[in-house]
Amino acid sequence: MRRLLVTGGAGFIGSNFVRMVLSEQPGCLVVNLDKLTYAGNLANLAEFLNHPNHKFVKGDICDGGLIEKIIGEHKTDTIVNFAAESHVDRSITEPKVFIDTNITGTLNLLEAARDKKLERFIQISTDEVYGALGPQGKFTEKTPLTPNSPYSASKAAADHLVKAFGHTWGVKYNITRCSNNYGPYQFPEKLIPLMINNALNDKELPVYGDGLYVRDWLYVYDHCTAVWKVLTEAPPGEVYNIGGCNEKTNLEVINLILDRLGKPQSLIKHVTDRPGHDRRYAIDANRIMTELDWRPSVSFEEGISRTIDWYLQSENWLGNVVSGDYQKYYESMYSER
Ligand code: NAD
Ligand code: TYD
Repeated sequence: MRRLLVTGGAGFIGSNFVRMVLSEQPGCLVVNLDKLTYAGNLANLAEFLNHPNHKFVKGDICDGGLIEKIIGEHKTDTIVNFAAESHVDRSITEPKVFIDTNITGTLNLLEAARDKKLERFIQISTDEVYGALGPQGKFTEKTPLTPNSPYSASKAAADHLVKAFGHTWGVKYNITRCSNNYGPYQFPEKLIPLMINNALNDKELPVYGDGLYVRDWLYVYDHCTAVWKVLTEAPPGEVYNIGGCNEKTNLEVINLILDRLGKPQSLIKHVTDRPGHDRRYAIDANRIMTELDWRPSVSFEEGISRTIDWYLQSENWLGNVVSGDYQKYYESMYSER
């Protein structure tokens, strides 16, 4: 029986991963450690909160004592580290918490993995550590790390720490670097759910700059299956890119959303650009496809339909998420743009 300590399991990707594991791997225990920041939400896992193989602990990955205690108590053999501050725009206005959680938090988890001699440490990183691309080319696992935002710099620092713990103390690790995810339970600060929510409410859709920035979109379930493959089949000490070969400009994505919702293009408003905005990301995922036989299973057209349907059917979830602090966030981020 695999015994996982999943961090950040109440966030977007973490909760999708926990749901997948509990649904598809009956022999697996999941201890879910999450601080429940603005991005963490137990409603993301409502139907699994009393599942016998799921133990939720509210806590901070910066609390080293707590991590050791959890590993001792639940005899977990693997850490899967999803916990992070994850939004680029927030990292531009308030970078410090990104350093605390994404770097110091990862350091604490690595110390615990080393001291408790865990079987594996999986670091959920991002393609943003590679920096930005021009119109041509793709990121491979050999692309040098040249992060541009405080968010991606903190994630790159964490990747270096993970490798250093492998090199220095023999911690058995893997690092995964995935492209942009979308799907159910994503907090509406990120492009796709923000645009769905605004369009549903006939609010302006704030497009940064010319809207021709390119992201390589992957449906969240496919990211989760890739992480599971790495966790169960990859040799230690290896890095895997994960992506769906699905590049789209932001305007293409937004127009598709408007189309599906039957809303007019006149909602689009070009606003002041994000400082230091990375022009294009594109992932070469050949390695995980050939070595671990992983494939994405959901096309963009199918995934965006499923995602829009999910938001349409999750009025309560969305209503709770966009009340209170979200309104303040939206005001502060967009009112003078
Ligand atoms: P998210 O912001 O939705 O969720 C992050 C979760 O971490 C939340 O539940 C939050 O409460 C928790 N958390 C934050 N600080 C914590 C702390 N100090 N201790 C414990 N828990 C803490 O993020 P996401 O989009 O689900 O991303 C998950 C991971 O995947 C991140 O590491 C991110 O860098 C990476 N990633 C995200 C994307 C994407 O498109 N969203 C793409 C590639 C990689
Ligand atoms: P985002 O979802 O923040 O992901 P990331 O910056 O980590 O790739 O943004 C995706 C793209 O959408 C990025 O080019 C910025 C752009 N964007 C907007 O144009 N308007 C918005 O309101 C947001 C949140 C993002």
